[in-house]
Amino acid sequence: GRTGAAAGPLAGRTVTITAGGTREPLDPVRFLGNRSSGKQGMALAEAALAAGASVNLIAAAVEVPAPAGVRLTRVETALELRSAVLASLAESDVLIMAAAVADFRPAQVAESKIKKTDDAAEPVLQLVRNPDILAESVLRRADTGGPAVIVGFAAETGDPDADPLTHAQLKLKRKGCDLLVLNVVGRDLVFGSDTSAALILAADGSEPLPVEGSKREVAEAVLARAAAALNP
Ligand code: CTP
Ligand code: CA
Repeated sequence: GRTGAAAGPLAGRTVTITAGGTREPLDPVRFLGNRSSGKQGMALAEAALAAGASVNLIAAAVEVPAPAGVRLTRVETALELRSAVLASLAESDVLIMAAAVADFRPAQVAESKIKKTDDAAEPVLQLVRNPDILAESVLRRADTGGPAVIVGFAAETGDPDADPLTHAQLKLKRKGCDLLVLNVVGRDLVFGSDTSAALILAADGSEPLPVEGSKREVAEAVLARAAAALNP
């Protein structure tokens, strides 16, 4: 790797990791955001460095600093994150989409601050869909020679239609990625916390791998799985 760790299961490999939550502007001072802390993405970056990889970290809004030794690209919106990810595909061996990408953005961004002073009715926000960066990366990997291993993250609750695992299995198929890391949420379990319990699902049909422990331990398990796929 570029920064020293010459040995390790990901030596000579480039790993691109997205982290944090996108912010979708409403006007020059306001945005729609989410509660992603970026901690899982940072743990992935640290674990990838420790495994000897060159790390591209594409960070949206995060509450924690990026580790030294990564190549850091800062982004704000889903569209900026998309551009940065697509630009990294050709050089990446592994892409890990740990960022919480806003599904929707405001249809219009006001050029000046929205004021409440006029007598007009309360504003109604119109939203439009953001592109699915993970699914698009899967579609583009053939023509970019891009990442051999593409990893998604999903935080699922159960609902009357299905349990979290069923939702995650459907999502893995829909996105076409190789691995999907399922965090079960609902209780105050994952967002902003230092620990998580996860299940790593694989498209190759192998048994889901449970990982209990810190975000660093989840990160190490994901990277071990990715390294195994790269070096069979
Ligand atoms: N993701 C993405 N682009 C989006 C939305 C999500 O690349 N516009 C990625 C996330 O980074 C994550 C994975 O897709 O790795 C799953 O995100 P999730 O929000 O669970 O999936 P969605 O397809 O948005 O489904 P849902 O309607 O359940 O939010
Ligand atoms: Ca979503």
